[in-house]
Amino acid sequence: METLTAFFFLFLTLGFILIFSLSTKPQEKTQTKPSSNPTSYPLIGSILSFNKNRHRLLQWYTDLLRLSPSQTITVDLLFNRRTIVTANPENVEHILKTNFSNFPKGKPFTDLLGDLLGGGIFNSDGELWSSQRKLASHEFTMRSLKEFTFEILREEVENRLVPVLSSAADYDGGRTVDLQEILKRFAFDIVCKVSLGWDPDCLDLTRPVPALVEAFDVAAAISARRATEPVHAVWKLKRLLNVGSERRLREAIKTVHVSVSEIIRAKKKSLALGGDVCDKKDLLSRFLAAGHGEEAVRDSVISFIMAGRDTTSAAMTWLFWLLSENVNVEDKILEEVRNKEALGFEDLREMSYTKACLCEAMRLYPPVAWDSKHAANDDVLPDGTRVRKGDKVTYFPYGMGRMEKVWGQDWDEFKPNRWFEEKPSTGPVLKSVSSFKFPVFQAGPRVCIGKEMAFTQMKYVVGSVLSRFEIIPVSKNRPVFVPLLTAHMAGGLKVKIKRREH
Ligand code: HEM
Repeated sequence: METLTAFFFLFLTLGFILIFSLSTKPQEKTQTKPSSNPTSYPLIGSILSFNKNRHRLLQWYTDLLRLSPSQTITVDLLFNRRTIVTANPENVEHILKTNFSNFPKGKPFTDLLGDLLGGGIFNSDGELWSSQRKLASHEFTMRSLKEFTFEILREEVENRLVPVLSSAADYDGGRTVDLQEILKRFAFDIVCKVSLGWDPDCLDLTRPVPALVEAFDVAAAISARRATEPVHAVWKLKRLLNVGSERRLREAIKTVHVSVSEIIRAKKKSLALGGDVCDKKDLLSRFLAAGHGEEAVRDSVISFIMAGRDTTSAAMTWLFWLLSENVNVEDKILEEVRNKEALGFEDLREMSYTKACLCEAMRLYPPVAWDSKHAANDDVLPDGTRVRKGDKVTYFPYGMGRMEKVWGQDWDEFKPNRWFEEKPSTGPVLKSVSSFKFPVFQAGPRVCIGKEMAFTQMKYVVGSVLSRFEIIPVSKNRPVFVPLLTAHMAGGLKVKIKRREH
């Protein structure tokens, strides 16, 4: 009864505000160059335009940012904090580096993922974040972790990925497979083995996916959808009442937490008994050895799985599709891996053209399309945009990759050569491009910790797959980019696999 009354009053108040707002003229915009901001009314702000465009926010923001002289817009939403979205590299540098301490993720962000990620590195600020960052950064520079990761990668590619693709190729008439799904399963195996020392064996397509993997998918998707609710009170109320998607989320999170805790307990037991060398190389063992408590370690490793699971697969899926449209580019990658059956660690260093292709694919289709911080105090961005304490400040890699001002008139072309510069002594070499112009891995003190690991993985997979197989998309239509927490291709990438003739 109390809930019904609360809903009734909420409904009445919203109705009153809406009628009042629509009978009033649109507000003067607060920014210096107002023309590019969405139409805003008193009290309700831009909620009407936002709602109209909420299923195409990427395109809407990108269009507005193109119109903005400083590539920054401000969106006011009823009952929600003001959102500033920027595609301006100087602003990005200010937010992510120069005034880093004023732009934490903030409670509104950490609330969204807090039930799943707790205080893990991906979802914390201040001291809680910085102590985990120090430990993880140290481990990521260790040769032993790099070698361990490369060994896992080699095994997973040679013993699982290649056989799965071979069997699709050898099937009479060629079987259609979803390459995105295969790469997601592949990446999940890798990140679980590196983070937990546990093998979910997702690439065995004959078995159902393990409960942990399914629960992770559900939990990540529902947590990400919380962010797209125009009124956050809605998901909070659903959580309070434990109904609908919030009920499913609670169940999925319970499965994730229980499964990871079981793995941790088994690991502790094995370490106490001495364990073998391999037992001690994963991140979980390293974090336990550093003396962290069970819950802190659980949150940390879940953060790593979250951060590393769908990102590389998203980037590679888009690259494989782009290559199918740009055969001359594919030929150049093939030149780089010619005569190399199994790639070694050193071979990867030399694959600069493949790296350029990956960067170019991520410029157009970034695995993390946008990312937000919350201002701790008032501030002014380099382009003059005023920031108020509590504002949500979003840097927007998807939009940045599409700005003529950032990438030139040919921004919409897939051109890996733009990542090279000509040196008289050596010929073309990879350019050093500012990470604030290309913040696909974020930038500054919170830059993605797995960046190098991600490039190692992606170069190895792209080289190993292309040197053996032709990837032929079944549909000729342009795929649709969907930005959840990690972006993906709507409906997957359905392809036929053909063995490459040498
Ligand atoms: C193409 C692949 C990848 C891309 C594009 C990418 C991108 C990003 C981005 C944009 C962030 C910042 C997110 C935020 O703060 O909200 C981030 C953070 C992070 N990434 Fe990655 N990532 C990739 C792969 C990986 C891999 C393979 C791992 C490790 C297994 C990893 C581990 C992390 C961690 C731990 C953080 C949090 C860092 C911190 O907050 O200090 N990432 N990544």
